[in-house]
Amino acid sequence: MKTSEDKFKITYKGKEIELPVYQGTQGPDVVDIARLYKETGLFTYDPGYRSTASCKSDITYIDGNAGILQYRGYPIDQLAKNGNFMETCYLLLQGELPTKAQYDEFEIDIMKHSMLHEQLIKFYSGFRRDAHPMAILVGVFGALSSFYHTDLDIDDPISRNQSTVRMLAKMPTIAAMAYRYSLGRTFVTPKGDMSYAGNFLRMCFANPMMPYEQDEVLTRAMDRIFILHADHEQNASTSTVRLASSSGANPYACVAAGVVSLWGPAHGGANEAALNMLKEIGTVDRIPHYIERAKNKEDSFRLMGFGHRVYKNYDPRAKVMQETAHEVLKHKGIDDPLLDVAIELERVALEDDYFVQRKLYPNVDFYSGITLRAMGFPSSMFTVMFAIARTVGWVSHWREGITEPDQSIGRPRQIYMGPTERDYTPMSERG
Ligand code: ACO
Repeated sequence: MKTSEDKFKITYKGKEIELPVYQGTQGPDVVDIARLYKETGLFTYDPGYRSTASCKSDITYIDGNAGILQYRGYPIDQLAKNGNFMETCYLLLQGELPTKAQYDEFEIDIMKHSMLHEQLIKFYSGFRRDAHPMAILVGVFGALSSFYHTDLDIDDPISRNQSTVRMLAKMPTIAAMAYRYSLGRTFVTPKGDMSYAGNFLRMCFANPMMPYEQDEVLTRAMDRIFILHADHEQNASTSTVRLASSSGANPYACVAAGVVSLWGPAHGGANEAALNMLKEIGTVDRIPHYIERAKNKEDSFRLMGFGHRVYKNYDPRAKVMQETAHEVLKHKGIDDPLLDVAIELERVALEDDYFVQRKLYPNVDFYSGITLRAMGFPSSMFTVMFAIARTVGWVSHWREGITEPDQSIGRPRQIYMGPTERDYTPMSERG
């Protein structure tokens, strides 16, 4: 990290202090405010971290104004069109694309760890059949921490690698079982000679009594969806994993915390919410009514799948996702009226002053719901698939965070707005 020759100067109560300004390899310069409290007694206030970098990272770069997303420097569209998810996982974790030998070894390692401990499988029967699969995912993935703690040493790179492989390998199996449990179907164990995405689709949809035929178009679409969602720098769930792990906590439990954060409709739950919204709109002629609702500040309705904290331009993932949606629907021969609603809604919103001025564009979730529905998934599974993809991002950030030389426990400050000191009143004297 380079230090800029420019300094950030502030004067507070007559005292001037100079704060260093750092430069990353890309992106805006950053003021280091670590000394601010010591020198001035001031905290900074930035709810939602709109102007705060919480860490240094080499993993993912986003330029929200230009609509750029890169994993370790590689543009997302190049990875999504030319690469595959396993290769992307290796890249995110190790910093470089794998050689053929590294790729083969990594893929086999993941495959070997994709089975679940028999005791872990017993957890499923404790859940209600109608439990949301994200609730099951949180519980079962968190429970991995009770299986893998005696041989865990987060300070040992070999142990960290072992946890990494286990987390990536077991997540799709846990997710597919959550889906089958909701339907009362027999669990399907992973198969060693299939791709990560192909195996996941098989574990979800195969009938164990019948031969299973892999659908190449759907497998490719699933793989692409995983690539598009693999990492997105310091979003809410990744920051949650980083904060949870900053105390040295068990990584399986930290990733379960990431799953929780992802679940919300403002984050990973947006794909489910976007599809529900398209269903509610139903037909193209009803779009103007919903556009008016989204613009009305008295109404809590928002266009789901629209807008992004970082992208103030077209989300580069949304472009690839839109193409994938068309491919999948064409392949399945589905004429989904919701795709017509989505395309028209996007057109109308992008010509509307309200959305133009606020730089609100479709995000990746706008088209992913339509695609996943065409692939045969119920909407309750959409965020689960996002979690499978994002596991590699969470794990990459966990590894980076806990090995940072200046790593310390995350502990934000606050503006206290409660009562000032007052004396305890006995209950008999309280009015
Ligand atoms: N529909 C209508 N108005 C919107 C929308 C929307 N989807 N998103 C933002 N706005 C408006 C806000 O009302 C606000 O208007 P104002 O300036 O008149 O008050 C302005 O645009 C800025 O909005 P903020 O909420 O400040 O933007 P923020 O960066 O905090 O929010 C967020 C980003 C949460 C994603 C928001 O755009 C949203 O709720 N979108 C819908 C949910 C969604 O699609 N989430 C997925 C995110 S992508 C992901 O997690 C993979």
